[in-house]
Amino acid sequence: MRLAVLVSGNGTNLQSIIDAIRERYIPKVEISFVVSSNSDAYALKRAEENGLRTVVVAKKELVSVLKPIFERVDLVVLAGFLWIIPDELLKIKPIINVHPSLLPLFGGKGMYGARVSGAIIASGMRISGPTVHLVTNDIDGGPIIMQKCMEVRDDDTPESLLERTHPLEHQILVEAIKQMSEKKYKIVGKRVIFP
Ligand code: GAR
Repeated sequence: MRLAVLVSGNGTNLQSIIDAIRERYIPKVEISFVVSSNSDAYALKRAEENGLRTVVVAKKELVSVLKPIFERVDLVVLAGFLWIIPDELLKIKPIINVHPSLLPLFGGKGMYGARVSGAIIASGMRISGPTVHLVTNDIDGGPIIMQKCMEVRDDDTPESLLERTHPLEHQILVEAIKQMSEKKYKIVGKRVIFP
């Protein structure tokens, strides 16, 4: 299964996929392209260090650059890519996204990073956790593939909560990719299942 992984920042989720491939936990998976919206992204360094093909994309050329890439892979992974994927790219290949909250809570336009964890703390919720879901034109609202739960601590800050969410993101992202590389999935209501 060939992946395009779309990034914009640190790239810890990208790294978790690279590591899982190297450890042969997802032996059917290879990363064909790493696409970044930001030429300074540390994620690009990680990609280059691992001999992966990298592409930097500008907002105005999103469709023309991404279309041929999407056509050449089997699955697109948004791993910290924050731009909305235009409608005309949504039907080419399945696209999954990792988000740092228990969707459908704390998602939607402009909700990323510490804005999400800050809103979780402000809400008073005692639990949190990341979500991996299929991308549709409903921002952060596509069918849910996997989630994992954790506690929100009394002394959590937006930064500490986000940092503790990261390892869980890595686990469920790799797990979702593994399932999708090994099985056919079905969308049942708002959920993705692997029958
Ligand atoms: C992750 O926390 C991911 O959940 C978030 O960007 C971060 C990327 O981290 N994505 C969103 O908030 C999408 N709405 P990384 O560059 O270290 O993988």
